[in-house]
Amino acid sequence: MKNIASSFTLPNGSVLKNRIAKSAMSENFGTRNHAPSKGLINAYKVWAKGNPGLLITGNVMVDSMALGEARNVVVEDYKDFELLKKWARSVEGTGVHLWPQINHPGRQAFAAINRKTVGPSAISLNLGSASKMFKMPIALSDEEIWDIIKRFGNTARIMKEAGFTGCQIHGAHGYLVSQFLSSNSNIRTDKWGGSLSNRARFVLEVYREIRRQVGSDYPIAIKINSADFQRGGFTEEESMEVIRFLSNEGIDLIEISGGTYERPAMIQGDRKKSTISREAYFLDYIEKARKLIKTPLLLTGGFRSVSVMEKALQDGGLDVVGLARPFCLYPNLANQIFDGSVERFETPIPLIGIKFLDKLGGVELPWYELQIQRIGKGKSPKTNLLAILAFWFSLKSLFFKYFWKNK
Ligand SMILES: Cc1cc2nc3c(=O)[nH]c(=O)nc-3n(C[C@H](O)[C@H](O)[C@H](O)COP(=O)(O)O)c2cc1C
Repeated sequence: MKNIASSFTLPNGSVLKNRIAKSAMSENFGTRNHAPSKGLINAYKVWAKGNPGLLITGNVMVDSMALGEARNVVVEDYKDFELLKKWARSVEGTGVHLWPQINHPGRQAFAAINRKTVGPSAISLNLGSASKMFKMPIALSDEEIWDIIKRFGNTARIMKEAGFTGCQIHGAHGYLVSQFLSSNSNIRTDKWGGSLSNRARFVLEVYREIRRQVGSDYPIAIKINSADFQRGGFTEEESMEVIRFLSNEGIDLIEISGGTYERPAMIQGDRKKSTISREAYFLDYIEKARKLIKTPLLLTGGFRSVSVMEKALQDGGLDVVGLARPFCLYPNLANQIFDGSVERFETPIPLIGIKFLDKLGGVELPWYELQIQRIGKGKSPKTNLLAILAFWFSLKSLFFKYFWKNK
């Protein structure tokens, strides 16, 4: 019977020992040179002891010239290979899978930490007063697009050689892959834009290149938006079509999320919906997707109660439950679920009262990153951590990177 503690076998034969996955969370915890830090590796040791089936790392960047955050890990060559091996060994002896999430930020790249910003088309982010933090992207040439595709494959292969047991493409949340999919950010008139099959060409080529470089029996997953939730953006119907393309290609696991920097539905959900959908933000999508494809499905966003997780697994087509913020405050949560000691994992929303920042998650995300860093430093998470500290931390890391970049 399918329940949260039962194992799950992916089509390629890899076994997740239970149905709990830590979804990707950018830790902003690499070294100044974008290698995995000691603390980052330690956080994964702690999480692995907590016993989930799968740990997906925070986004690992394919190009040091295209950062999402100041302290991202970047893997573009073998210079940090020994540290990558250490990171992969953080789960040693636990049977927990560890997969890197691989990403390129495209236009969602802070101007302070990137010399150049690129995207499918020269369309800037619309973030009101926060828009100034991002440059107008330069539309990528055909040659540059192929270079980025190759980089995705290169990063996945190096991580595989280091000992990671699978990988995930970040195709959600308004980053480059998602920018290609959406007509709001992709108005190209060549083979990379226009019809949905043209807009999906980038993600399909990224998948094919990774597959070419890692071989046929290595798990490749994708995190993709159920929709952008923006007028003129990537719709649910389009998303269904794209997962059908990916499923036909043989992708091993599809994680569903939603939203972009402009509309951060991934962390906010839709509070107007019924309790179960309010808790599991994109559950309706899973029901529809299950009728369309056989590929395993992972759902992330809002799960907090064990009973809701169990119900979502038992009632519908969901195979694996994804959790992010709860892992920052309850690193041992899978064990706590299995021994029945906790039914609900509360996750506060820290705010500082500056409306546009609070709305965009500009305080909430660094607050949770600081919790990850506490875990990595051997400290306990701190639920009463001051929100203003998180804001300061986020400013400080951008500021230092700015001077580092310009020195
Ligand atoms: C601090 C933080 C960093 C995040 N970074 C990433 C990321 O690198 N890649 C990604 O796909 N999602 C990222 N997310 C989104 C989460 O994976 C997840 O989709 C979202 O938090 C909703 O799940 P939850 O309600 O269980 O937290 C991040 C979320 C947080 C809180």
